[in-house]
Amino acid sequence: MVLAARRFVLGVSGGIAAYKAVDLVRRLRERGAEVRVVMTAAAEHFVSPTSFQAVSGHPVRTALWDESAEAAMGHIELARWATDLLVAPASADLIARLAQAQADDLLTTLALASAGRLWLAPAMNQQMWAHPGVQANVACLRARGARLVGPAEGEQACGDFGAGRMSEPMEIVEAVAGIDLREIGASMQGKRVLMTAGPTLEDIDPVRFVGNRSSGKMGFAVAAAAREAGAEVVLIAGPVALCTPDGVTRVDVRSAKQMHDAVMARVDEADVFIAAAAVADYRPVAMLDNKRKKSGDTWTLELVLNPDILAEVAARPKRPFVVGFAAETERVEEHARGKLERKRLDMIAANRVGLEGCGFESCDNALSVYWAGGGEEINLGAKSDVARSLVALIAARMAER
Ligand code: PMT
Repeated sequence: MVLAARRFVLGVSGGIAAYKAVDLVRRLRERGAEVRVVMTAAAEHFVSPTSFQAVSGHPVRTALWDESAEAAMGHIELARWATDLLVAPASADLIARLAQAQADDLLTTLALASAGRLWLAPAMNQQMWAHPGVQANVACLRARGARLVGPAEGEQACGDFGAGRMSEPMEIVEAVAGIDLREIGASMQGKRVLMTAGPTLEDIDPVRFVGNRSSGKMGFAVAAAAREAGAEVVLIAGPVALCTPDGVTRVDVRSAKQMHDAVMARVDEADVFIAAAAVADYRPVAMLDNKRKKSGDTWTLELVLNPDILAEVAARPKRPFVVGFAAETERVEEHARGKLERKRLDMIAANRVGLEGCGFESCDNALSVYWAGGGEEINLGAKSDVARSLVALIAARMAER
């Protein structure tokens, strides 16, 4: 799901389905999107602005001529702010006014002034939806790039049965989230991404090693998402049983020392460095040439500190945009922000490990992403979706710099 880097103006027009738009705001925010609500005069007959204010956390705009609202964020500023204008419900009247490029209220004015994606979730009586005039207006908006979600078929508030119901909030969220990463204003086209993934294994002797838990799934998903976003990706991978994502250049390593050398040999060409690997902090002082024979009840192994690859990349005078990961079992924000500052990173993606269903080895994960003065939550989901959200965030932060 790629919503963490998206800013939605949700336009609510007059229709009984307006009550569903309250839940839609919640669902969009749960996925990390920012949402500001604009209501038409007709919409206020169905739902009060207070409900939308409560769920969006921001004042609701209802009129073009509201001096105090204009002083806070003027309508042109709001139009520029939005990456997406989502009209749900979109009534027949609103669709007609959009098709005619009218600017007779705040919502239609925003639609003209915004360069963002326009989404329409129509809701009206089935006879109205089937009307050739409505269909012509919809075809005209589609031809200009508007994207339709629904309408769904079923029993309507008026008692009729047919196409015209507004799609359910979750269906709308899935539709707006399901766009290609490259479509997101902040793409990674032309960027060179160098990254690490998987564990490192530090050999004790020819049959034993010390290492960290990591399947490589999270890092490989980030590599695939960065590639999908248009980047050239070089992935330095510890020992994992995963296929290389399409279009990604993979370099296999085993130990932290090898991972370090592989990164340092390529870092000068990188625009972004992402460290998703679970690098072993220590390695045995020396690897034994032969298998150590079992003897005695205890074995004390002397370890020496490995190079900190991430910190070393971040300390370079000419450095890429540096993103670290943090695997934490408690006080996630405190520990992650500590690493962000100590290692002088641009961004850190922290995950809770040690819980069922996320972190190491599982197919799902959730991330708390932090940077100086800000942060975003990427909710629990498939690692591929979480990775796409993370890449969208990285691209957005890089574009802001
Ligand atoms: O591979 P999966 O099974 O999918 O699991 C994913 C993951 C949980 C391993 C991954 O999401 C993750 O959190 N990776 C980083 C784990 C980790 O080692 O965290 P850390 O807090 O110990 O290290 C902090 C950062 O420094 C990490 O970016 C790490 O790559 C980097 N580091 C650490 C030590 C070192 N010597 N060199 C480094 O570059």
